[in-house]
Amino acid sequence: MRALVTGAAGFIGSHLSQRLLAEGHDVIGVDNLSAYYAGTLKRRNLAAIAHPRFTFVQDDLADADLGPLLDGVDVAYHLAGQPGVRSSWGETFADYARANVLATQRLLEAARCREGLRLVYASSSSVYGDAEAFPTAETVLPCPRSPYGVTKLAAEHLCGLYAANFGLSTVSLRFFTVYGPRQRPDMAFTRFLRAARDGQQVTIYGTGEQIRDFTYVDDIVEALVRSGTTPTPAGSVFNVSGGGSHSVNEVLEEIESIVGKPLNIHREAVARGDVRRTSGDTTALARAFGWRPRVQLREGLRRQWDWVSAEA
Ligand code: UGA
Repeated sequence: MRALVTGAAGFIGSHLSQRLLAEGHDVIGVDNLSAYYAGTLKRRNLAAIAHPRFTFVQDDLADADLGPLLDGVDVAYHLAGQPGVRSSWGETFADYARANVLATQRLLEAARCREGLRLVYASSSSVYGDAEAFPTAETVLPCPRSPYGVTKLAAEHLCGLYAANFGLSTVSLRFFTVYGPRQRPDMAFTRFLRAARDGQQVTIYGTGEQIRDFTYVDDIVEALVRSGTTPTPAGSVFNVSGGGSHSVNEVLEEIESIVGKPLNIHREAVARGDVRRTSGDTTALARAFGWRPRVQLREGLRRQWDWVSAEA
């Protein structure tokens, strides 16, 4: 199989690329190496992927010539985007609209006439906002609380439109707060673990009682791989979540027990756009792909701690 992975230099994209290569597939990775976080980290991710069957293309999906990238491709995993819930307000919204909506629309346009191509889109639990019901099923009406969530939902709707109008075989996976080695530096666990390592202050937004259904990156990769190759109706949407409901305070306790020392915690106001709780119902994903999460929070945190410790 030949796969295109957009956002290949990123956290999830690099893990997915490695897994596909290990399974014997050819992978074209595209990434614009945006300045959202340190290029050194992305180059380190790319170095970990290096393989004779891996081709890297540095380009921006919002203006690149996408046709050649899709030549001979069986599955396009669309993970590229402008991440970050809390930083999507104000002037930076233009980056979100461009990277998440326009880039996805351009990729869909390029993909729509490709017979047999499957496109797997990395959506987000942020489309739900403060959901009406927990665990939240895909049938619950999305109502994002952040500009970021609005762009992720808009792109998901675009996937549905191209499925309905052109028969493009799209699958959208709603990822719930993904963690593990190589997690982005702006995300909670990397920030907490690095602060623990370096004896620095940990900043908590709000009471710390907000709950997340944290999902280990290997479980996300497994869902991506299965959804790339298992027949499913065009335009399908699935939650991918770890199956546990943990507050940020519980995570801090786990971290203190793993690193063996108390954290220096500083509290700030609730961040705009943050939701109180996420919890995904993964019944549909289990039925469609026989998928279930395998890595529990403590084990996953320990693996991320090993990674953070080793990068020092
Ligand atoms: C994450 C990703 O950043 C999004 O790209 C993704 O789409 C989203 O998950 C999702 O599931 O849809 P978030 O849940 O905010 O967003 O993930 P973290 O940055 O790991 O934050 C988790 C919780 O920790 C949030 O409540 C946040 O307010 C809190 N936090 C984060 C802190 O208290 N302090 C920090 O320094 C960072």
